[in-house]
Amino acid sequence: MSTAIPRLSQFPDAELTSSVQRALLEWYAQEQRDLPWRTTQDPYAILVSEIMLQQTQVDRVLPKYHQFLAAFPTLATLANAPTADVISVWIPLGYNTRAVRLQAIARQVISEYEGHIPDTIEELLKLKGIGRYTAGAIACFAYRKQVATVDTNIRRVLHRAFLGLEQPEPRLNDAQMLSLAEYVLPPDEAYNWNQALMDLGATICISATPRCADCPLQHVCSAYHEMGQHSLFPSGTVLRQLRKVAEKKNGYQSQPFTSTNRYFRGRAVAALRTLPAQQRLSLPELGARIKPTFSAEDLPWLQQLVNGLVRDGLLDATEEGVRLP
Ligand code: ADE
Repeated sequence: MSTAIPRLSQFPDAELTSSVQRALLEWYAQEQRDLPWRTTQDPYAILVSEIMLQQTQVDRVLPKYHQFLAAFPTLATLANAPTADVISVWIPLGYNTRAVRLQAIARQVISEYEGHIPDTIEELLKLKGIGRYTAGAIACFAYRKQVATVDTNIRRVLHRAFLGLEQPEPRLNDAQMLSLAEYVLPPDEAYNWNQALMDLGATICISATPRCADCPLQHVCSAYHEMGQHSLFPSGTVLRQLRKVAEKKNGYQSQPFTSTNRYFRGRAVAALRTLPAQQRLSLPELGARIKPTFSAEDLPWLQQLVNGLVRDGLLDATEEGVRLP
């Protein structure tokens, strides 16, 4: 639990808090999504789901979640597997560093916690690669601890419901947002509340095009009232414009995905996955497989890309070349 609650004056009064709690929990009781990690209390399965869901949407995670658990049904099977096998199963999800991180967590739990995933935020945070969100999610979803947790969806819903529009500037920083989440956590309902916030954020209180007309919080939502006061409807258009302004201000420039570092990292790992075990590729061979126009001039760039992948545990590099670890 956090100690100080910053900027208490910004926090909602008891009446608004309980109205939002009631409306959201009632909605969730009717509308909750049927998701496989909600029908298990296996902390390992919940850990897998949470790491997968960190950068990937539910629809894409669902089939992979089942495949991954079929390949590595327990924490011990994951910990003992060759890292290359773990990466191979993970590849279609992308952001492959997560696979290495997840296996490292499994190994740490085996070596330091006798194979039992800890049940407190404090201990969970000692696992390398677990941040406050994931620690809170595991404590709450696997062990039913009455704790708050804040991911992107939860942050957006709480901000809009209790504080107003989060664009162009969010009004609370991360620590303050966590304090708000703790402040509005309904007694004994942390599990349903946290899942409900995620469902609302994913299906109705969407970032650029919120479906306010379908929202169970419409009558109590600060952002909705704010938009109404300024005649800012339809909300989707307005929010998109507000976001563009914010992105410009922050110097954000979008670039095509196929020229990003992430794209080439993914291609490199996928190319190495198809090699027979122990075989290596030289840097120029790897370059030619991931970039059709690859030339000697690209070698420094490729070396940097490889260095990053080695740092993240996704690649094994020697004088003879590179392969999966
Ligand atoms: N994203 C992260 N955790 C989730 C969960 N438990 N349900 C749905 N989406 C999520």
